[in-house]
Amino acid sequence: MAHCGPAEPSAKAQAPRPDSNKPVQGSVDQGMKPVLFEIFGELWTVQSRLGQGVSASVYQVSSGRASTTAAVKEFQADTQGGDYGYHKERSVLEDIQGHKNIVTLYGVFTNHSCMGVATRCLLLELLDVSVSDLLTSGTQGGRPQQGHSMWLVQHCARDIMEALAFLHKEGYVHADLKPRNILWSADDECFKLIDFGLSFKEGNQ
Ligand SMILES: Nc1ncnc2c1ncn2[C@@H]1O[C@H](COP(=O)(O)OP(=O)(O)O)[C@@H](O)[C@H]1O
Ligand SMILES: [Mg+2]
Repeated sequence: MAHCGPAEPSAKAQAPRPDSNKPVQGSVDQGMKPVLFEIFGELWTVQSRLGQGVSASVYQVSSGRASTTAAVKEFQADTQGGDYGYHKERSVLEDIQGHKNIVTLYGVFTNHSCMGVATRCLLLELLDVSVSDLLTSGTQGGRPQQGHSMWLVQHCARDIMEALAFLHKEGYVHADLKPRNILWSADDECFKLIDFGLSFKEGNQ
């Protein structure tokens, strides 16, 4: 079982309505996936695991009350028990909000499990399929399809160039640009950059 603690609204993010900070008892499933998060005083149900990396897991969550969906990136403590990765990604994301081709950070919160473990979490806009999935889904008879649609190539290139131009104007280097870190947004009909865990400000490497 896990329960989720009070939320800390992010400095620049537009967070969903905070209305209570009362801690609540949640639970985890057999695969140790959390079932509930309490975010900004509301219970959000974990619908699926979207990704699992070395330092973080990403979940799709939904808030029953407002029938809103979002993504939660939950960081495991690092080898020294610290949360450097979370603070690094959070500070970059907060600095670069407002571009249509960069994932939106709604806010941040700390999740408290009943085993006494606190994990830092980012509440993010929910995006859809990754460019990696788009590239590998085009198979014919089990063999990769030759080439990809001109529409996909042109839109992806344009959107990512715009995101990178903005990032570089702000002085940042993404430093982990790859198909898994470029996601399609069905809502905004464009590609967006995610995963700023390795990003750095030029001159601050
Ligand atoms: N906002 C999001 N919406 C939907 N899926 C996401 C989102 N953020 C991450 N993911 C999924 O989770 C995976 C891992 O997320 P990422 O931020 O790249 O973590 P890591 O630092 O472990 O690489 C991504 O490749 C993607 O499939
Ligand atoms: Mg990644």
